[in-house]
Amino acid sequence: MQTLIQKYNVPGPRYTSYPTVPYWDTNTFTGIDWKISLKKQFDVLNTSEGISLYIHLPFCESLCTFCGCHKRITKRHKVEDPYINALLKEWHLYKELLVEKPVIKEIHLGGGTPTFFSPENLTRMVKGILKDTILDKDYNFSFEGHPNNTTKEHLQALYNVGFRRVSFGVQDYNMAVQIAIHRVQPFENVKKVTEMAREMGYTSVGHDLIFGLPFQKLEHVKHTIKKTQELRPDRIAYYSYAHVPWIKGNGQRGFSEENLPTPNQKRTQYETGKMWLEKMGYVEIGMDHFALPEDELTLAMQNKTLHRNFMGYTTTQSKIIIGLGASSISDSWTAFAQNEKNIDAYYALLKENKIPVYRGHLLSKRDQIIRKHILNLMCNLQTNWTTEDEKLIDFLVIKSKLSEMENDGLIEIKTNSIQVLEKGRPFVRNVCMSFDLLLQKKQPQTRIFSMTI
Ligand SMILES: C[S@@+](CC[C@H](N)C(=O)[O-])C[C@H]1O[C@@H](n2cnc3c(N)ncnc32)[C@H](O)[C@@H]1O
Ligand code: SF4
Repeated sequence: MQTLIQKYNVPGPRYTSYPTVPYWDTNTFTGIDWKISLKKQFDVLNTSEGISLYIHLPFCESLCTFCGCHKRITKRHKVEDPYINALLKEWHLYKELLVEKPVIKEIHLGGGTPTFFSPENLTRMVKGILKDTILDKDYNFSFEGHPNNTTKEHLQALYNVGFRRVSFGVQDYNMAVQIAIHRVQPFENVKKVTEMAREMGYTSVGHDLIFGLPFQKLEHVKHTIKKTQELRPDRIAYYSYAHVPWIKGNGQRGFSEENLPTPNQKRTQYETGKMWLEKMGYVEIGMDHFALPEDELTLAMQNKTLHRNFMGYTTTQSKIIIGLGASSISDSWTAFAQNEKNIDAYYALLKENKIPVYRGHLLSKRDQIIRKHILNLMCNLQTNWTTEDEKLIDFLVIKSKLSEMENDGLIEIKTNSIQVLEKGRPFVRNVCMSFDLLLQKKQPQTRIFSMTI
């Protein structure tokens, strides 16, 4: 395994979209293109299918030095009101564009820290979003909560407006690691919010864990998983620490590279964690995720109805995701668009009554075919192609790129299909990279992606 890690540990995308953001053709994209593509898709879909909303709430009170998310650190809660007003204005502009009342199937509150906002403000925001919309009968609302500041009132307020899923950021329970990542968070805090959510009636509680953090040793990973077993969350995100200090400025410079585990140590942490989680009864879902056997994600994976988007794995396939808030990404299935990342610039565009997107990409037919195969690989660990697909994509080239992985026993290649084998599971991002024609055509000039292992 060690030589395989050395061979395949290269910088690579996590494929929450295809094309990946650095490869969007932003030169030919305009906000008008985005509106046209969204409206077209909405008019086709709205009567039968609902839409998903991703709402980005970027504020955090304190900076965790490992964090790769888009956030603004502040203790001033005065920022809450203007931000919610802006979100509601943005949603109003979308509703004007769509004309017909949208059917809401999914809402996810991500961050930053959604629980930075007061329960009253979260209620005002969700009620404002749901005004003049139709709720899908199987709607699914979820949010990310910080165990250190999620209160009973937060849980109750969001429960009252329909939220039944929550995920809590845990990362690691060891104190030395917690100090290094500037996130001291005792087990008792996580226990308290997990139990409170369950008692209240939340049907799915998730925990986010990370391996490969600074100063993290195998024994810490084992300890964290043992403690996690005590609370038995329904879902566990088991992320590989993405070290991308060149993008996130000083945030990831609170420790030095020497404090990070080596790629081999990191791989052992993943393998051990996976083994322990599986012994505890969890099932591995695609990449980075585990769930209990009766969880919807596990069932979706078994029925091959699992989907993946910017928010990660989901059981709901939405051909329209509207991202609200600074830096949010939207997807109309034929186009992607990203909002202004800078909060003041985001406000300025809204003040001019503009949908605040600043870059995006229109998917060509080729892009759409490659996206389909990458999604298949990420969700089902296999893909097969048709003669129609072959008219636009040269699969012989892809197969030749994959022949080394086949020789290493990681995948099985057939005439019209590729299957990732159990041994190849850790390398699924590398398999996807062979389908990524844009990445092959032009390697990024600077480092953008984290390492695949
Ligand atoms: C927005 S945070 C969750 C909500 C809340 N802000 C908190 O920290 O509890 C989303 C999750 O992304 C993961 N994450 C953030 N930065 C990461 C990185 N550099 N590598 C891997 N996972 C990361 C963490 O597990 C974190 O819990
Ligand atoms: S991990 Fe969560 S709380 Fe910490 S900085 Fe990132 S978004 Fe904020």
